[in-house]
Amino acid sequence: MKTIIEPFKIKMIEPIKLTTREEREAILRRAHFNVFQIPAEEVIIDLLTDSGTSAMSAEQWAGMIRGDESYAGARSWFRFENVLRELTGMAHILPTHQGRASERILFELVGGPGKVIPSNNHFDTTRANIEHSGAKAVDLVIDEGKHARSRHPFKGNMDLAKLERLIGEVGAERIPVCMMTVTNNSGGGQPASLENLRAVRDVCRRHRIPFFLDACRFAENAFLIKQREQGQSHRSARDIAREMFDLADGATISAKKDGLVNIGGVLLMRDDALAQRANNLLILTEGFVTYGGLAGRDLEAMAQGFVEVLDEHYLEYRIRSISYLGEHLLAAGVQIVEPPGGHAIYIDAAAFCPHIPIEQFPGQALVCGLYRHAGIRAVEIGSVMFGAVDPDTGESAHPAMELVRLAVPRRVYTQSHIDYVIEAIVELFKERERLRGLRIIEAPPALRHFTARFAEI
Ligand code: F0G
Repeated sequence: MKTIIEPFKIKMIEPIKLTTREEREAILRRAHFNVFQIPAEEVIIDLLTDSGTSAMSAEQWAGMIRGDESYAGARSWFRFENVLRELTGMAHILPTHQGRASERILFELVGGPGKVIPSNNHFDTTRANIEHSGAKAVDLVIDEGKHARSRHPFKGNMDLAKLERLIGEVGAERIPVCMMTVTNNSGGGQPASLENLRAVRDVCRRHRIPFFLDACRFAENAFLIKQREQGQSHRSARDIAREMFDLADGATISAKKDGLVNIGGVLLMRDDALAQRANNLLILTEGFVTYGGLAGRDLEAMAQGFVEVLDEHYLEYRIRSISYLGEHLLAAGVQIVEPPGGHAIYIDAAAFCPHIPIEQFPGQALVCGLYRHAGIRAVEIGSVMFGAVDPDTGESAHPAMELVRLAVPRRVYTQSHIDYVIEAIVELFKERERLRGLRIIEAPPALRHFTARFAEI
């Protein structure tokens, strides 16, 4: 059979409220054209994020009931620790409430003024935590990773020459850790190859720089390696994932992605002395080392999620459902970041609305158009999110790509939901010259995309 089906049945349903175009028009205006301000109930298909939006399995819910809520040494903690140890081989496993809590602890320990921390692309909370510590975050993704049309199979790879150059310029002693985000969320959900991870690890080892993964989507990255990297197709995703972790000295993980849970995170490391200090900070701000700011039931759900995510039938369906969306859009002439990656499709909004100048936020215009047309909520990753206003000159800087991300929650939507999304985008594309640019009427100085208010031009 060539049809790849969702390898699960639906046991519990959540109704979707269907709104009319007129209703959505009023909602959009009330939200000042910012979809973060729209109540989720008023959204038909919510592709804002794949983070914390997974549907849990019957086994995960059963674990929620079995959860041991003891303060110290709970049974649920030992199960969680066993699963993570087997998956990653790391000596020290610290539970946290989500990815950015792991980042905050790590960078409070190794960051600070004068330090420089490279990655392929840092995710925005990672960058913010690095900068909050006083250190500088640097992106060293390969050039192909910056071009929507490049079909390089591993656009999440790091440019080794740029890494060597950075080390030469600032000195290894100022680089307390080198990161790699797998898959590379800010770079279009693109995977990094094992070959590249090994090479980055070798450079780091030569310069005695610890190598850490931002491993939120490790399973999707592992499966894309299995599908795309020469000599890897015979291996299991679990085996490939284990090699990815074996290459690293530690990792930060938001379990809200490939952990298949609604809340949770992990901080992993091998170094005993660093782990001791991290445990102290964990106790100070998250919770005791055997629960880290979570309930015992959350640890059970995470433990089970980290097992289920490596099921190859699940991964095959997951990766296929993303490429199904991407390929249908491409076939209709909608430019996306090619090839489709792990968790989302990223539309090239500048190509979608060439009539809207970058100063009028074409990505945000497309996001608003999608909501108005079909009640679909996507997120702008472009000049609103990353465009900064220079406080001295008042001029706006714009990022390399103007994208709209359609992030697909795990195990939540069926193929007909995705068909609805495709139909809506293709219809909108046909009448794209009707999309209108926006101007900001009110915005905070930092992280403006969450609360900025817009008006249509
Ligand atoms: N690293 C990456 C690569 C991420 O994508 C995220 C979150 C984090 C770290 C932080 O994890 O949210 O649990 O604190 N990404 C979400 C997104 C928010 O929509 O892409 P967190």
